Amino acid sequence: MDNDTINPLLIPKHVAIIMDGNGRWARKFNKERFFGHNSGINAVKESIDISLKLGIKQLTLYAFSNENWNRPKKEVNSLMNLLATSVEKEIPNLKKNKIKLEIIGDTSKLPEKTKVKLFEGVSETSGNNKLILSLAISYGARQELIRATKQISTKVKKNIISVENIDENIINEHLYTRNLKNVDLLIRTGGELRLSNFLLWQISYAELCFQNVLWPDFKKEHFLNAIIDYQARNRRFGKINK
Ligand code: IPE
Ligand code: IPE
Ligand code: MG
Repeated sequence: MDNDTINPLLIPKHVAIIMDGNGRWARKFNKERFFGHNSGINAVKESIDISLKLGIKQLTLYAFSNENWNRPKKEVNSLMNLLATSVEKEIPNLKKNKIKLEIIGDTSKLPEKTKVKLFEGVSETSGNNKLILSLAISYGARQELIRATKQISTKVKKNIISVENIDENIINEHLYTRNLKNVDLLIRTGGELRLSNFLLWQISYAELCFQNVLWPDFKKEHFLNAIIDYQARNRRFGKINK
């Protein structure tokens, strides 16, 4: 398959991916789960590459959930190291391709070294605008909404916001994703049919695409298939067809 089957006028602006299936992939080779996480990095690079080629402007990747803190310490530590080293290695590539890195999630829970490396990547790429690459790390949609509610309540108490003025825009402005559009296309690999606490507010009108491929096996063809699938959908937003 090539890009010819893709309609360049119907490219989703914001694609979000739940990158799932690394552990199962490793098990197939009788290896430790970390082997799967490490191999998943190639699929991340490939997804960034295709996003650039297709002209997708925002790519949000679920790398580590709020609930993933409940995994064994060894796996959590290895993931935290992998995130730090991968971002560090990718900075030249991000700069070359004018990619702006953002981190969404509760970064206060991250080990110091990981935090430093991630935010180095964020500050070194802050002037870029070809693609916004958001990594959701220590992210949970419910926690994001609790945080927004607290921030808005505080502003109401201080008379900065009036209750009557609370609307979708105000909520959006208090989310980690305040600089992003609503998600157009959500892809989940690994075969599970659930959202696992990812972007609940932002995906309210996203098209959903669940794929059976395990994340380390996710290639260009899978991404293109998801886009083709997306382009065939009829997005009505509650209205009726003309
Ligand atoms: C996704 O793969 C990566 C993270 C959640 C960090 P998993 O580690 O969940 O792999 P499976 O779902 O157990 O195969
Ligand atoms: C979701 O995958 C989180 C990420 C991909 C980072 P999980 O593997 O943690 O989700 P559940 O536990 O199967 O719902
Ligand atoms: Mg999983």
